This record gives sequence, C-alpha cells and structure tokens, in this order.
Amino acid sequence: MKGTVHYEQRGATALLTIDNPPVNPLSSGVRQGLSDGIGRALADESVQAIVLTGAGRAFIAGADIAEFGGEAQGPSLHDCLKAMDDSDKPIVAAINGTAFGGGLEVALCCHYRVIAPNAPVGLPEVKLGLLPGAGGTQRLPRLIGAAKALDFILSGDPIPGPQAAELGIVDEVAEGDIVAAGIAYAEKIIAAGSPIRRIRDEDDIVAADRGKPEIFENARKNAARRMRKRFAPEMIIQCVEAAVNLKDFDAGMKVEQECFSRCIQHPQREALIHVFFAEREVAKIPDVPRDTETIEIARAGVIGCGTMGGGIAMSFLNVGVPVTVLELDQAALDRGIGVIRRNYDIQVQRGRMAAAEVDERMGLLTGTVRYEDLSSADVVIEAVYENIDVKVETFRKIEAVAKPGAILASNTSGLDIDKMAAATSRPEAVIGLHFFSPANVMRLLEVVRGAKTSKAVIATSMKLGKRLNKIAVLSGNAPGFIGNRLLAGYTRQAGEIILQGATPYQVDNVLLGFGMPMGPFQMNDLVGLDLGWRARKLSGMKPEDVPITARIADKLCELERFGQKTNRGFYIYPEGSRAGQADPEVVKIVEETSAELGIERREIDDEEVLKRCLYPLINEGAKVLEEGIAIRPCDIDIVYINGYGFPEVTGGPMFWADQQGLDTVLADIKRFQEIYGGDIWQPAPLLERLVAEGKNFASLQA
Ligand SMILES: NC(=O)c1ccc[n+]([C@@H]2O[C@H](COP(=O)([O-])OP(=O)(O)OC[C@H]3O[C@@H](n4cnc5c(N)ncnc54)[C@H](O)[C@@H]3O)[C@@H](O)[C@H]2O)c1
Repeated sequence: MKGTVHYEQRGATALLTIDNPPVNPLSSGVRQGLSDGIGRALADESVQAIVLTGAGRAFIAGADIAEFGGEAQGPSLHDCLKAMDDSDKPIVAAINGTAFGGGLEVALCCHYRVIAPNAPVGLPEVKLGLLPGAGGTQRLPRLIGAAKALDFILSGDPIPGPQAAELGIVDEVAEGDIVAAGIAYAEKIIAAGSPIRRIRDEDDIVAADRGKPEIFENARKNAARRMRKRFAPEMIIQCVEAAVNLKDFDAGMKVEQECFSRCIQHPQREALIHVFFAEREVAKIPDVPRDTETIEIARAGVIGCGTMGGGIAMSFLNVGVPVTVLELDQAALDRGIGVIRRNYDIQVQRGRMAAAEVDERMGLLTGTVRYEDLSSADVVIEAVYENIDVKVETFRKIEAVAKPGAILASNTSGLDIDKMAAATSRPEAVIGLHFFSPANVMRLLEVVRGAKTSKAVIATSMKLGKRLNKIAVLSGNAPGFIGNRLLAGYTRQAGEIILQGATPYQVDNVLLGFGMPMGPFQMNDLVGLDLGWRARKLSGMKPEDVPITARIADKLCELERFGQKTNRGFYIYPEGSRAGQADPEVVKIVEETSAELGIERREIDDEEVLKRCLYPLINEGAKVLEEGIAIRPCDIDIVYINGYGFPEVTGGPMFWADQQGLDTVLADIKRFQEIYGGDIWQPAPLLERLVAEGKNFASLQA
C-alpha cells in the first residue's frame, strides 16, 4: 500500500501526520493509516483530541490519480470520513499546505480547521469533469452558504488561506508552527468543553438559502455562459440544491453519489482527463532534456506595438518583466502605449485590477524608436507587419544591437523562421514565439523551432511560456506551423459549403452547437473582412484569380460591410452590440455568387457541415504528425483548444477523432474526396496506416 500516517501523542492530543511524498495524495496506505490512527486515538483514554496534518509541502493534494480505474485496496475514503465525522473527540485539521479535492473534503470532515497563510485550498474536480464526491458538495454549503459554495466549486480555482478564512471555510489562519497552532486550538476546545461541531449536523446557514431558487438559477446562467457544454456543473448545482433542500445529510450524500457516477460515466470526463495530462505532456521535447541549461530572462524587447506587440508587452508586464517597445515613429509609439494603458484602465473599471497595479506595470514599460535601446533585452520579439521582407530587415537590425546570448524571436503567424534566421549571424538564437490574439489573454504560445535553433533557446522559450502563464507547444517550421496550417482547411470548407447550398448562419450554428465559441463567419466578422480584400487589391490580383471562397466576403467589402467594425458583415450588428443578426441581403448575395460560379445549390445537412469543417483538421493533423511538425497528437489537441477555441470537453480534434473511430472518419474523408476532390480530402497516409492496423492516434502517444 502506498503512503502512511504517523501517529504521535503530544500531551492529550494525538497528532496524525500524513506522509505520502511528494504531495500526500489519498492513496491506499494513507486511508489505512487514517482509519487506524483515528481508531487508536478513540480507544486511548489518555487522548482527548486529534490533530491531522501533512508532512512536507502539502496537507493532502487530492485523490491518487494513479489508483483511478484500478482495484481499490484498503478502506474506502468514505469509511475513513465516517469514522472522523462520528468521532466523539474533536478533530482539528492543521492545514500546513495544499488541500485540494479530497484533501479539502477530509479537512471539511474535521470538526475545526486552522490553516497556514500560504496554504492553498480548492476543489478542482470540475476541471476534470467531476464533482467533489466525498461530501464536499454537502458540507461546504452547510458551512458557507449555497451561493458561495457554488462559486467556489464551479470555479475549481484554489484560494490562499486568508481568503479561505474570510469565506468561512477555515476557522483560523495561524502564522508560524501550524502543528502547534492546531494542538493549541484543540486544547482550547477541550478546555472550553465546547460541543463537537460536525458540519453534517449544521442547518442554520442552508436553512437561510431554502426557498431561494434564484441562487441556483444564477449559478445555471453563469455556468451556461462560462462553461458552455459542460456536464459536471449541472451535476454540482443539483448536489448543492440537495444540500439546501433535503435537510437530511445522508439523503444529500446519496444525490452526490448518483451525480458523481453520472460524471464518471460521461465521455467528457475522459476527454478532460486527456487534456489534463496533455497539458503536462506538451512540455516534454524528446531531444531537449529537462535539465537543458536555460537563459535568464530579466528584460524583454518588443518590436511593433500594434495589436500583437501591445498584447505581448502586456504579457511580460503582467508577470513583472520590464519591457522596451520599439515602433516606427513617435506617433505610432504613443498610439501603441496608449492602447496598453487603456486596456489596463478597462481592467480597473471592471474591478479586476487596482489603479496602483496599473502604475506599477506601466512603470516597467519603456518606449523607443531607436534599436540601440534594445541592447539590454534578453529576448527580443518582433511583431511587425506580416511580410517576409519586412521581417528579414527587422532581424538584421535586431542582430546588430542585441546582446550576445539574447533570444531573437518572431511572432509571425506562419512565415519561414529559417529565412529570418539566415538574415543574422546567429541562427541558433532565432525562434518563433507565436502568440494568439489578444496576446495578453490567450493561453497558447506556439514555439517554432528553426533548423538551427539551439536547445537552450528552445528550452528557455518553453519555460518562458509557463512564466507568462501560457501553455507552450513546440512546432516545426513549416508554413502556418501547427495551428494555422490546420485552420486553412476548416475555413476553406466553410466557404465552399455556403457556395454549395448552406447559409453562413447554418454553418455557424452547427459549429456553435458543437461547442466552438463562434462560427467561421462570426470569426470573419470579428477579424474584419477587409484585411483579405485589401491585401488582394494591393497585390493586383485579377478578379478571376480571387479564390472562390473569398468572393462573397469581397462583395460584402465592396458594400463597405467589413464586419463588426462597420456594424455589418455576414451579420448585422445593432449599434453597440456584438451579437449579430442574420441578414436576408447576405443570403441573396451568397445565392447570386453560387449562380455566377455555376454552382447548383442543394440542401446540405448539419452532419455534413460538421464533418466537412472538422475532418480537414484531423486529416491535416495526421499529415502534420507524419511530417514531424507536431511531436504528438495531444500537442495538436492543446493547440486547438487553447488557440482556436476547440471545445475542451471533446479533448481536442485528434482525441475527438479517436472517439468517432478513425475508420469511420477515413471512410467519410474518402467519400468527400470522391465528391469534391482536392488536396484537402487526399487521405493522410498516417491515417490510412492507423486504420489498416486497427490503431488510433492515442497509440502514437504510448
Ligand atoms: N492579429 C492577429 O490576430 C495575429 C495573431 C498572431 C500573430 N500575428 C502576427 O503578429 C504580427 C503583427 O500583427 P498585428 O496584428 O499586431 O499587426 P498591427 O498592424 O496591428 O501591428 C503592427 C505594428 O508594427 C509596427 N511596425 C511595422 N513595421 C515596423 C518596423 N519595421 N519597425 C517597427 N515597427 C513596425 C506598425 O507601426 C504597427 O504598429 C504579424 O506578423 C502577424 O502575422 C497576428
């Protein structure tokens, strides 16, 4: 059995110390030790109280994920908790460090809780498609009320000790020796002869929530908005409703158990656990060992302070790294810095930041129009216009001033990193750091390795991603890298489908229904239809050479319908609204365009729309894997979930494909190839091979 619990008597108190390095999960040995320790303390007449704490950094970090799915050994957690609850000697949790999930539920089963100021507590189960199934949904509302309990359980985010005390989750924050504080607390309870406080028996707080259905309506509304398509939140809400309305604790526990099993059986749980492990996996790069020496990043330089440069600068400022931004001229610089300031001011207005914090962050920002001012930066990231000649010229200038050992990076969306590297005499220092818009918000960072990029530069970039609170995924250097390369097929299909018979609104609705945050045409309206239209005009492209999938957008631009920015695009946006309305005028333009191109329109059902938009991601994903651009299928999943809004509950496109069955996916791809032809439907050899061998993408991860 794994893990143990040490037993020690201090005066009249039995001290139980959970010891299961590194973070004291509730493994079989811990449950056995808890059960034995509680039994021994109860049987010993010289013991009047029990204090429970953790060895090392953690109190209890949660369940032992390694035991999931296996045969459970030793006593169940429920049996341990029942023994604790029933104890007629007071039990005090001395929360020395992390108390997550089952760990916090153990603490809630103790009669009192003291906590170290830096110890975080949290119930992260919702993030894995689960709910706190060891009484957490029943005890927490009894302790802090339904509304606060719902907020806490539905967010899944940890909070530090003092905030837990403010919420009422713990009784006392203790500086210094937490075990001594726990024992002192227990002695105080005994000296006062206070009755034991079992949360299960408390009713006052939940009684005040009875007859207030609005608490649950609000929670449902928030969950629908913030956790679209998620199954576990509704289960959590039903459990808390039971805690409030059923009065009887055991009846509530029964509801919790039923809801927990429904979560366990739901396919979302498997997908979310895949994502959980994938997020850790993507940090591993086979030829760049974990102990690769990294470069210290104390200062950053950003060239170009437009949409991306400004967001990238904010990402550094947000974690306290000083930044120098460089622009073409003073006017552009003032504009760029003004936007950064305004973005922070909005956060202050929304109560998300203190004004003093803004000053602190802005204090770390310097603007310049001279390259020499970038000479002290440890990493310089260019975010100038997406044009290879401009980028190459920029790299020449960076290299002339950058200090030896500095990382020279490009935020290009898909241009050749090696061409930029070749413009310098230190190609080993050059790398792609592809942030997503808005760069201060989006979690994905695609790190693009060039042919000569050094391992130290790769390792530092991956580490930098983490420091910037992002998730870094390594990509090879090929057009569009991982994300934008896959996206091309998705958007092209959406464009073809509307020429063949669907409306933009049908296509968007199908993808929204699947769980994407917006459909491809809503996305076009948000980005601006005019960008592509202007680029085509500037390049002098002849009308007959414009790709057919761009014809409708270009017609809309001729009518000055550029998207959200002009309140009209594929949708109409009533003044001040971002929610677009369908427009019959656009449907007419779509139909006319089909007729001009000689395409006969027909009804296209939703299933075909979905498959034709998503299967190119999978087919191209297989090609990207085969070419070694992405290391593992899960890397593609993480890119799509964090950079493109692919619903997390599906596990990402490659995991989702496995769940559909690769044989059926391939059969459809072949069917579309016969009907529509084109590279896009040319089956990836890897996909054919996996199907022939009866394997799936997951088999490549093993
Ligand atoms: N916008 C996005 O969604 C997005 C997402 C990821 C990556 N990118 C990439 O980021 C880069 C910048 O895109 P953006 O959307 O921020 O463009 P932008 O037009 O908003 O900003 C570019 C800025 O660079 C400045 N600039 C241009 N040439 C310069 C030079 N030689 N020296 C100094 N400053 C110069 C311009 O004045 C402008 O402020 C592009 O490579 C783009 O492909 C964009």
